[in-house]
Amino acid sequence: MNDDLQRLQAAALVEIQQADSKIDLENLRVKYLGKAGAVSRLSENMRNVPKEDRPRIGKLLNEIRNAVTVALDSRLDALEAEGEVQNLSGVDETLPGTPFRAGGMHPLTLLQDRAVQIMRRLGFALADGPDIETEWYCFDALNTPENHPARNDSDTFYLPDGRLLRAHTSTVQIRTMVSNEPPVRVIGPGAAYRRDETDATHLNQFNQLEGLYVDRNVSVADLKGTLEYFVRELLGQEVETRLRPHFFPFTEPSFELDIRLPGIQEGKWMELLGCGMVNPAVFEAVNARRGDNAYDPEDWTGFAFGMGLERLAMSLFGLPDIRLLIENDQRFLAQFAT
Ligand code: DAH
Repeated sequence: MNDDLQRLQAAALVEIQQADSKIDLENLRVKYLGKAGAVSRLSENMRNVPKEDRPRIGKLLNEIRNAVTVALDSRLDALEAEGEVQNLSGVDETLPGTPFRAGGMHPLTLLQDRAVQIMRRLGFALADGPDIETEWYCFDALNTPENHPARNDSDTFYLPDGRLLRAHTSTVQIRTMVSNEPPVRVIGPGAAYRRDETDATHLNQFNQLEGLYVDRNVSVADLKGTLEYFVRELLGQEVETRLRPHFFPFTEPSFELDIRLPGIQEGKWMELLGCGMVNPAVFEAVNARRGDNAYDPEDWTGFAFGMGLERLAMSLFGLPDIRLLIENDQRFLAQFAT
């Protein structure tokens, strides 16, 4: 019996050492330790062992069971480790990794954010309004005559219910005043829409930045000082500016602000934004809608301005075609990523 047991253990350990798959190991576990396995069968044989030998044989059987169990477990560990090495054998861990491409802001967003930051430093708060507007907010309240060409449905996108896609962000001036008492200082960036043919210099959706400042005793000097500061902060101290008389129905007097930058468009003057002193007719329209006299033109004056972002981006970055700004071509956009 003793010898049988020794031989059984030796055979089991050799077989386990030679097993080269998990399935083989499982079969060996059944063969030796299973209910009908060799060790179990020997345990049952204890009946035939003389009484005085039983403790010793029993102890021996336990030792075999333990030794086989330990051998099975450690062979299993070894097989798993080998498998891992094999899985990695096709991998050259010395090769460089695949770098992540960091995203960046769109050039228009960069420009808009910078412009807004400058105005916020001057105490202007961010304001906005809906892209879908009524004719009243887009034209009537802004003192636009009934027969003004911008009202034509060849110029402005109208919805079947008579509402429209705002043709400028000046609607934000009205939205702000209808729901806030003076004084107000707001900056409103956003989309505007016009029925232009798309070409190298026109998009039918573009972006504007609207500004409005209403307080007591606001004058053209405030307009000029504020806008000159804004433009220098945005485009550099060396930029030259000039105010040129113009006409907008919602401001009186009205101006265009032109800029000239060394190295840009051969130093030619270019138009940057429209501006002017808020027309008292606009205050009256707001008062009528509010049902009070909060914007009494006798007490309050203000200036407003509106700037297109795409044309400015084109000049600043030397873009030959405005459509580059909406095509999402990574080769173009990546140049602005910081
Ligand atoms: N809304 C005008 C446009 O789209 C731009 C503009 C001009 C805005 C004068 C203003 C302003 O606030 O005072 O062409």
